[in-house]
Amino acid sequence: MADLRRMALVWWVRLLAALPLVAPLINIPRAGAAGALWPIQAGASPGTGPPQDSLRSAGPVIGVVVSAVAVVVAIVIHRIDARRTRGLYLDSLWSQILTLTQTNPRLCDVSVTSNYLEQMTWQERLAYDAVCLQGWTILDAAASRRLLDGTRMRLAFDWMAAFHLEWLHNNAHLFGGRRFWRRVKSVESGESRLLRHRPVPSETGLASWDDLNQRYFQMVFSPFDPMMPKRTALTDSIERALAASSADVIRLVDLGCGPGHLLNVLDGLPTVLRERVHYVGIDRSRPACESTRRRAELLGIPAEVLNIDLLNVAPPVGDVVVAVNTVLGGSRDENVTLLRAVRSSAHDHARVVLLLPAFEVMEHIIELRRSWYESKEGRATARRAVDATLRVKHPDAETASYSDDGVVTQFFHSLETIDRELAQVGLAPLAEPVRLDYPWSLARKFDYGYFPDQPPVWDWLVECRPARLAT
Ligand SMILES: C[S@@+](CC[C@H](N)C(=O)[O-])C[C@H]1O[C@@H](n2cnc3c(N)ncnc32)[C@H](O)[C@@H]1O
Repeated sequence: MADLRRMALVWWVRLLAALPLVAPLINIPRAGAAGALWPIQAGASPGTGPPQDSLRSAGPVIGVVVSAVAVVVAIVIHRIDARRTRGLYLDSLWSQILTLTQTNPRLCDVSVTSNYLEQMTWQERLAYDAVCLQGWTILDAAASRRLLDGTRMRLAFDWMAAFHLEWLHNNAHLFGGRRFWRRVKSVESGESRLLRHRPVPSETGLASWDDLNQRYFQMVFSPFDPMMPKRTALTDSIERALAASSADVIRLVDLGCGPGHLLNVLDGLPTVLRERVHYVGIDRSRPACESTRRRAELLGIPAEVLNIDLLNVAPPVGDVVVAVNTVLGGSRDENVTLLRAVRSSAHDHARVVLLLPAFEVMEHIIELRRSWYESKEGRATARRAVDATLRVKHPDAETASYSDDGVVTQFFHSLETIDRELAQVGLAPLAEPVRLDYPWSLARKFDYGYFPDQPPVWDWLVECRPARLAT
C-alpha cells in the first residue's frame, strides 16, 4: 500500500514537472497576442479588463514556479528512494551473514571469537575471515551513507561489535570510514546490549566443574586470567600470608584448587620463600586434580593433590589456607558448610586468604546499564534494559544470589553475608574486605558490558585467622 502511494506521488510530481512543456499545446493565449480572446484596449485602466487577464499574464510564472517545486520534490523523492533501495540491499546482505552464522554457532560464541586466533583451526579461520570481512564491510558502507540509525543496521552494528571486535581490530586497516570508526568507538565503550553469557555446564542444576575446569578461562571469570596484571591484591596477600609463617616447611592448602593456577603464583615467588612451600591442592573435580598434578610436576613444585568433596570430607590442615572463588555454592547453607571446611583446614596460627565472588557487582552492573541506556536512549529503554537484566539474571539481594548464565543460580557474598558467615564459622577478618578489581577488557567477555570510565567489577578479598567460636 505504501508503495502504491509512493508511486502515485512520484507520477503526480512528474506530471507537474511536465506542465510547462504541455502548456503551449493546450494553447493558453497570451495577453495582446493575435487571436487573443480579450485584446487589451488602449487606455483601459488596469483591472477593468476581463477578470482572467491578470491570471493569463501570471500563467508562465506560475508554470515555472510549479515546475521548479516539482523538480525539487522529484529530486528529494529520488534520493529517498535511492537511500531506501541501498538500505534494502544492505539489509539483504546482512541477512546472509546471519544465515551463515546460524549454521556455525561458534561464530557467535564470544569466548571463541574474542580469541579466534588461538581457538579456530586454519580452515575455520578462513571462513571466519570471510564472514567478518563481509559483515564489517556492510557496516562501513552503511556508516558512510548515514544508514546506521535505522533499527536494523544499528542492531547489526551492535551484534558485530558484541562478537567480532577482536577481528576488526586485527584488520583495522581494511576499513577507512570516519563515521564507521566513530561508531566503533561509541559501541566499544558502553553496554554490550546482548546478554550472551554462555551457559555454565550443568547436568544437575549445579555448576559442573569437571567441564568448566577443562576450558577454564573461556568459561570462568578468574583472578588468574592471563588478562589480569601479574601482581594483584590477591597475589600480594598470598605472598604476605606465606611470608608471615614461621614454619620451616609451609603447608599451603588450596581449597577448590581447580586446574592449579595458584601454582603459577608460587612459581613467581622469591626463591627463598618458594622453596619452603609444600602445596596441597584439593578439589572435588577429578580432571581439575589431574591438571593440578601435571602443572606441579611441570613447575617442579612439591605437591599433594587430593580429590575430595569439601561438603563431605574434612580437608587436611595447613599453615596458609587459600580458597579462590571456591565458596560459591547452590545455597547459603552450602556456602556456610564450605566456609566451615576452610576453618577446619586452618591450624591455630594459620592465615586464611579468601577470594569471595561479590554479590554487589550485579547491582553495580545494573546501575551502569541503567545510566548508559538512559543517557543514550532515554528512560523507557533504560527501564527495559534493567528489566531484561533482572529477568535473565534474577538477582536476589536477600540471599545475595543471582544466575550468571540465566540458568544456574549461585550464592555470592555481600559485605553483610561475609560479616555474618565468617563469624558463624569462626573466622576473624584481619581487616575489612578489600576489592580485587578486574579490568574491563576482561569483564566484557563475561557479559558485564564495557565501561572503562566507570569503577570496575570486583570480588571481595578477605584475610582472616581462625577465631574461637562464641559458645
Ligand atoms: C571457580 S573454581 C576456582 C578454581 C581455582 N581456585 C582458581 O581460582 O583457579 C572453583 C573450584 O572449586 C571446586 N569446588 C567447588 N565446590 C567444591 C567442593 N565442595 N569440594 C571441593 N572442591 C570444590 C570446583 O571443582 C572448582 O574447581
